[in-house]
Amino acid sequence: MPHLLSSIREDVTHVMEHDPAAKSRLEVFLCYSGLHAVWFYRMNHWLWNHRVFLLARMLSQAARFLTGIEIHPGAKIGRRLFIDHGLGVVIGETAIVGDDVTLYQGVTLGGTGKEHGKRHPTLEDGVVVGSGAKILGNITVGKNCRIGAGSVVLRNVPENSTVVGVPGHIIFREGKRVVITDPKQINDPLSEALASVVTEVNNLRERVQQLEGSEAKGQPLSESLQRIMEDVDYQI
Ligand SMILES: CC(C)(COP(=O)(O)OP(=O)(O)OC[C@H]1O[C@@H](n2cnc3c(N)ncnc32)[C@H](O)[C@@H]1OP(=O)(O)O)[C@@H](O)C(=O)NCCC(=O)NCCS
Repeated sequence: MPHLLSSIREDVTHVMEHDPAAKSRLEVFLCYSGLHAVWFYRMNHWLWNHRVFLLARMLSQAARFLTGIEIHPGAKIGRRLFIDHGLGVVIGETAIVGDDVTLYQGVTLGGTGKEHGKRHPTLEDGVVVGSGAKILGNITVGKNCRIGAGSVVLRNVPENSTVVGVPGHIIFREGKRVVITDPKQINDPLSEALASVVTEVNNLRERVQQLEGSEAKGQPLSESLQRIMEDVDYQI
C-alpha cells in the first residue's frame, strides 16, 4: 500500500514504453482500465493481507464493475502487470503472476473445478497471454512464454515456449519450431480416434497391396499423410 504511488508511476512508464498506442502519461493514467484494475487490486490485496476479507472482496467487485476486470484480492501479482484492453479478464484467488506479464482481453487464469487449495495457475516473469486464452488449474507457465489467442492451456509449459490451440500445445521452444506429427502429443480427446484411423488406413493399404500384388505398390500417398503414418506407425 505505501508503495502504491511508486507502483503507479512504474506502471505508467511501462505502458509508455511498451504500447505504441500510448500518446502521453496523462492519457495512460486516465484511460487504461487494465492499470486501474491493477491499482485497485494492490489496495484490495493489502486489505486481504490484513484480513479485511469482506471489504477487499467488495472493493474488488466494485473494480470489476468499473473496469470489466476481475482480480481476486488473494491473488499474488508481481510488478508491471499490463492488462491491455482488459475487458473480461479474470484472475483467480490462488493465481500467481510474475513481473512484466502482459494479459490481453478475455484471459482467464482460472481453476478446473477439480482442485482445492492452490488451484489457479502460476505465470512466471515475462509471460504474454493472447486475447481469450484460458489457463486453467494449478499449472506453471514458464518465463517468457507466449500463449496464443484463444488457447486453452491445461498443462505446465516450459520457459521460452509458444503455445497455441485447444488444448494448448507447444509450437516454438527456445526459438525453434516444434512440429507435431503424432496426434497423441496434442492430448486432445480426439487424438486416440485420429491415431486409430491412421493405423486402420495403414492396415487397409497393406491389405490392398497384398490383394492387388505389385500393381498397387509404390502408389504415392499425399506427403502429409505419409509423414503422419510413418510417425504414428512407430509411436503406437
Ligand atoms: C501465438 C502467437 C504469439 C504466435 O505468434 P508467432 O510467433 O508470430 O507465430 P506465427 O504467427 O508464425 O504462427 C506460427 C503457427 O502457429 C499458428 N498460430 C498462431 N497463433 C495461433 C493461435 N492463436 N491459435 C492457433 N494457431 C495459431 C499459425 O497459424 C502458424 O501455423 P503454421 O505454421 O502451421 O502456418 C500469436 O499468433 C498470438 O496468438 N498472439 C496473441 C496476440 C493477441 O492476443 N493480440 C490481441 C491484441 S488486442
